[in-house]
Amino acid sequence: MKKPFIVGNWKMNLSLKDAVKLAGEIKSFAGNMVNTHIGICPPAVFLSDIFKVITGSNVILGAQNIHFEDNGAFTGEISGLMIKDVGCTHTILGHSERRHVFGETDEFINKKLKKCFVDDISPIFCVGETLDERENGKTNDVIEGQLQNGLKDTNTADAKKLTIAYEPVWAIGTGKTASPEQANEVHAFIRDFLSKKYDANIASDIIIQYGGSVKPDNIRDLLMQNDIDGALVGGASLKSDSFLEMIEIANSI
Ligand code: PGA
Repeated sequence: MKKPFIVGNWKMNLSLKDAVKLAGEIKSFAGNMVNTHIGICPPAVFLSDIFKVITGSNVILGAQNIHFEDNGAFTGEISGLMIKDVGCTHTILGHSERRHVFGETDEFINKKLKKCFVDDISPIFCVGETLDERENGKTNDVIEGQLQNGLKDTNTADAKKLTIAYEPVWAIGTGKTASPEQANEVHAFIRDFLSKKYDANIASDIIIQYGGSVKPDNIRDLLMQNDIDGALVGGASLKSDSFLEMIEIANSI
């Protein structure tokens, strides 16, 4: 099994004080763990402060989104160079909330993904189907389309920096988790796609995280699946007790 990669997606939550406290607790508990990669993606305005807190540990800092331009008249946006400037090595891209609430298309996400590779940022690229799509038997088609379009014009060197997060939209923030077997089936489908697009060795090295109501009581069974290499955690990453418990479980597998 690969070293699991557990990332907290804090979304638009926490005050600066609480974010700094949480990052400090993560650093002291898990900052030097060797069997698990740990990342946190705080709100963009907190990144500089959080970077200072986690400096000197193995905790990875990521943003939740970037724009594909370096600078310019893009009110409200931040660039890859900006997040690098404040200590990020990673960013989430194509999260279902960006797709469904803010109307981001595969083409738009693809531009940002390619910019990550130019800027040497590792993207955590999210894909996932809605409940309606799943119930209509379209899961694989939807995932394939998101992968095909999102990863368009990327090469094997790019793929080495890539993490994929499979996040069924119906499982995000709903308390409903895909069963480990259900999730693994899609992960295996994603790995097969990556193997055809890049090559089998690269595909087997790419971390494919599961996301969607991951909690301390389901993370072990998810991570025990062959093709599940980590987790992108929303709600349960906002409290140190539950996040640290999940990290401890991941580290012990
Ligand atoms: P959740 O969110 O763990 O609260 O379901 C996961 C995500 O959106 O990344």
